[in-house]
Amino acid sequence: MKTNGKAILVSAFSIPIMKIENGLVLPKKDIKYLESLPIREGKEGLKAGNVATSKNMFLLQTDKRLEVVKNYMNTYVTDYLNKTLCVDNDFEMTNSWVARTKTEHHQHNHKSAIVSVVYYASADDSTICFVRDHNWLTQAYDFDLQIKEYNQYNSTILDFNVKTGDFMIFPGWLHHKALNNSKNIKTIVGASYFIRGELGSELNTTSLTI
Ligand SMILES: [Fe+2]
Repeated sequence: MKTNGKAILVSAFSIPIMKIENGLVLPKKDIKYLESLPIREGKEGLKAGNVATSKNMFLLQTDKRLEVVKNYMNTYVTDYLNKTLCVDNDFEMTNSWVARTKTEHHQHNHKSAIVSVVYYASADDSTICFVRDHNWLTQAYDFDLQIKEYNQYNSTILDFNVKTGDFMIFPGWLHHKALNNSKNIKTIVGASYFIRGELGSELNTTSLTI
């Protein structure tokens, strides 16, 4: 007797990435303000290269004018942590900055960060590409596979199209790069979060205060 079995495919132990579409659209005067903030000069300057970051690496913690961005980020990051990690620990914004890109933001990760968020303050048409070294097979056996069709299980690059108003939240260790597909300079606000407070227990000899 032949039967057609029901297949249920799940992504076990996957990496959570959250996209919030149209999460916050700032008025033009606020975009102009972000664009006017002092940027790092020299090699990393926008005139010399593709990417320029703000001098202030604690921007949202120190600039009252951008409180709305900080509040939205905190709300979305809390939602991400509640839905994915689901723990009774505190997390706190550590660094926050503006980055402006002409064409391409090189591949990197966010060191000293558990979770990172990118808010697309002004982006006509942009792509963020998450990158890992291996898929579920090549991390154990590094075969040179002949992939017929890419999907979320066999890929080592995953692209998201993003535009003005969107937020992307992801683990800070996850490598990513970005493309600006528009002629207009892209302006984002980035922030990183780290765990804070009392962790572990004396009973398990795992006490830690951060
Ligand atoms: Fe980044």
